Amino acid sequence: MHNGTTITQFIIEEQRHIAGATGDFTSLLNDVVTACKVLSNMVNHGALVGVLGSAGTENVQGETQKKLDVLSNEVFLKSNEWAGHLAAMASEEMDEIYPIPAQYPRGKYLLTFDPLDGSSNIDVNVSVGTIFSILRCPGGTDEPTERDFLQAGTQQIAAGYALYGPSTMMVLTTGNGVNGFTLDQNIGEFILTHPDMKIPADTREFAINASNMRFWDEPIRRYVQECLDGEEGARGEDFNMRWIASMVAEVHRILTRGGVFMYPMDAKMRASGQDGKLRLLYEANPMSFIVEQAGGGSITGTERILDLQPETLHQRVSVILGSKNEVERILEYHQQG
Ligand code: AHG
Ligand code: MN
Ligand code: MN
Repeated sequence: MHNGTTITQFIIEEQRHIAGATGDFTSLLNDVVTACKVLSNMVNHGALVGVLGSAGTENVQGETQKKLDVLSNEVFLKSNEWAGHLAAMASEEMDEIYPIPAQYPRGKYLLTFDPLDGSSNIDVNVSVGTIFSILRCPGGTDEPTERDFLQAGTQQIAAGYALYGPSTMMVLTTGNGVNGFTLDQNIGEFILTHPDMKIPADTREFAINASNMRFWDEPIRRYVQECLDGEEGARGEDFNMRWIASMVAEVHRILTRGGVFMYPMDAKMRASGQDGKLRLLYEANPMSFIVEQAGGGSITGTERILDLQPETLHQRVSVILGSKNEVERILEYHQQG
């Protein structure tokens, strides 16, 4: 039995410190939380409710959609469109932005999301998650456009993720540190279990898809080689490696015990005109906000991700994030060329 702080209580108490707060934002976050509870339930029931497998369609980025990619996108739209807090939404799984339908009032916020991150893991019962970010709608709320979404990550009001793992967790920042909540399935509430999460500045653990090694740029090759060389090499220490293929699960591990996660730009992507693997608005920006708020770093290799000016909705970007001293080392390797 848990008698702790619920996520709703936590958000309301945080809002009391913000002068002029109307409750709109609290209410919006509550709807996002509800959507994640619905998804947690769906993911948890898996094959019992027939949600595994491919939907037989492709998204705007040419990726085959899983049934759960499509369903989770629908859940997010339905949970968040009605309450009057949003002007529009944008998702990894939709070609265009989704202005709030005319029958509902429109509000001053924008919501972006990756409804199901790591969906290649869903059929094999490995952790997946949801990533979201909240922005203010700069252009007025009447006719929201794609341009309204193209804001640097530093402009985010809040960002978070839900992790559907052995426990379902919600990790959240409103720019005032990072807090983690665990879903108590019996009472249907997220309870504060991980207050003020901090990423250790040093680590001996890295995560990268090593099947891309032959395409890596020199600074990444150098960093990974030095980790692999272990005690006998330049670092003088043994390193451990992990690759889950769910960014949510990797970031959660890093928030819990430190580490570095890399999905860098490489020669293969360059040759095909792709700017990276991960999406700036749905994955890189929210995760960078969370990681920085927990004391970590997040860069493309040469630049801070949160400073990037997005140019298109579905823009991709090189991502290197995690323990601060390691991220700084990787930045230096890039500066040295
Ligand atoms: P998504 O399932 O939303 O398309 O995102 C998958 C992303 C990310 O979560 C993960 O780190 C990476 O893609 C996995 O890439 P590989 O397939 O190269 O391992
Ligand atoms: Mn994703
Ligand atoms: Mn996804």
